[in-house]
Amino acid sequence: MYTLIAILLAYLIGSVSFAVVVSHAFGLSDPRTYGSKNPGATNVLRSGHKAAAILTLLGDALKGWFAVWLAQHFSAQFGLDTMALAGVALAVFIGHLWPVFFKFIGGKGVATAAGVLIGIDSWLGLATLATWLIIAYAFRYSSLAALMASLFAPLYYGFLFGPDPMMLAVLIMSGLLIYRHRQNIANLMAGKESKIGSKKK
Ligand code: G3P
Repeated sequence: MYTLIAILLAYLIGSVSFAVVVSHAFGLSDPRTYGSKNPGATNVLRSGHKAAAILTLLGDALKGWFAVWLAQHFSAQFGLDTMALAGVALAVFIGHLWPVFFKFIGGKGVATAAGVLIGIDSWLGLATLATWLIIAYAFRYSSLAALMASLFAPLYYGFLFGPDPMMLAVLIMSGLLIYRHRQNIANLMAGKESKIGSKKK
């Protein structure tokens, strides 16, 4: 019962789309109407408003971290086992992708996944973030950096902790993240992907 409540709560937390909320608070256009139309920090940056993009990034990452932290913090009290924690990690991510508050039209999950990974383990989060930064710095494509980081995250998890239900959750997150980037993958292959910081069209 508590497992179900924790998973539902995580899904609701994940359903808060900071790209939409922050853009609205700053009086910017809805990010679902320009650029890649993705409600995420990269697309909010295309509005030219850096503070809004940073707040979106922080908000989406923090909600991922918070849901995992909350479940871990109360795990002993409510009998939440590794399987339940894995469910929570996945649920907050799924909430971001298919948010109940925004007609199930959500983002691609990069910032939220980063928050979730930091929540699971700070070394796991740091290694994945470092992967993102290296690829982003080298190639200037946010999507390529996210795709590479998502390929490496389950490997880092396996190396650090070995196979368990949480590794399965990380694998599913990576799979969903890659699936949500299919347009970006097509753009990258066609040489049409926009680089970090390019303005909206
Ligand atoms: O954060 C999502 C990023 O990887 C790609 O975003 O707006 O370029 O599709 P976008």
